[in-house]
Amino acid sequence: MSDNSDTAAEGTTASTGAGETASHVRRNRQHWETRSAEYQQRNRSQLNRWDDLAWGVWDVPERELGVFGDVAGADALEYGCGACQSGIKLAAQGARVTGMDLSGAQLREGLTNMQATGVSFPVVQADGEHTPFADASFDLVWCDHGVMSFADPYRTVPEVARLLRPGGLFAFSMLTPLLWVAVGDQDEVGREFRMPYFGMHSLTFDDPQWRTTEFQLPYGEWIRLFRANGLVVEDLLELRPPAEATSTYVDAAELPWARDYPYDHVWKLRKMRADAPGD
Ligand SMILES: C[S@@+](CC[C@H](N)C(=O)[O-])C[C@H]1O[C@@H](n2cnc3c(N)ncnc32)[C@H](O)[C@@H]1O
Repeated sequence: MSDNSDTAAEGTTASTGAGETASHVRRNRQHWETRSAEYQQRNRSQLNRWDDLAWGVWDVPERELGVFGDVAGADALEYGCGACQSGIKLAAQGARVTGMDLSGAQLREGLTNMQATGVSFPVVQADGEHTPFADASFDLVWCDHGVMSFADPYRTVPEVARLLRPGGLFAFSMLTPLLWVAVGDQDEVGREFRMPYFGMHSLTFDDPQWRTTEFQLPYGEWIRLFRANGLVVEDLLELRPPAEATSTYVDAAELPWARDYPYDHVWKLRKMRADAPGD
């Protein structure tokens, strides 16, 4: 693994300008265009349970987490929607969903899911670092291991802050920084630190089955980035699977680790109102 993304990290100059496509975005698009069918096949039994909205690798139910609240009538953007499973479930609750994803193959799987469920909404093929939507278009932007895992947070966080209306909710799940340091350059998670915590930003994977570039920051860096973009942290929900949990994403041998340490988590953020005190 290596860090070779076109970085937009604090204190550095982004090597691509607004509207241009960074090399990690091209790489990730190539991955998802070629691996989409296999990904959907492998995870269908977890993702396509239409009556069960859940989060993350271990499928922790939304009814236990309460991230969204009432979404009826909300203008909502699924930010890296894949095959739209999560969007279909929120649309069924009355949200006015738009799905956005980099990969045409993933979006085509989404259209198939819409036909199967009879729930439909518009989808847009775009890069989450530079979306085509107007300022303040949405009350809710969310993703479950979507854009926020695969694009540079120094581009995506300002972009989502731009898209949200004041008081709007930004909720996203991703792997934890703790998991990153406990995996490092190994294939599976361990109980010792395997890479430095400070300086983490992106990792590029060269496994033939998994050729992505993924992103992560130290906790303090996330919080400073959110605040710099007018986003207040309402919660950080660390997802602890039950002892009997299963996952289509990872080997069952990883469950004991996930019972002891946070494997993935959900950031819950609120776009500040202009008159909010103190910030
Ligand atoms: C792990 S899938 C998650 C999708 C869905 N939530 C699920 O659980 O299957 C990640 C998705 O993010 C999309 N993605 C990656 N980078 C992106 C970017 N820069 N802009 C938009 N979508 C992106 C991929 O195409 C892929 O569909």
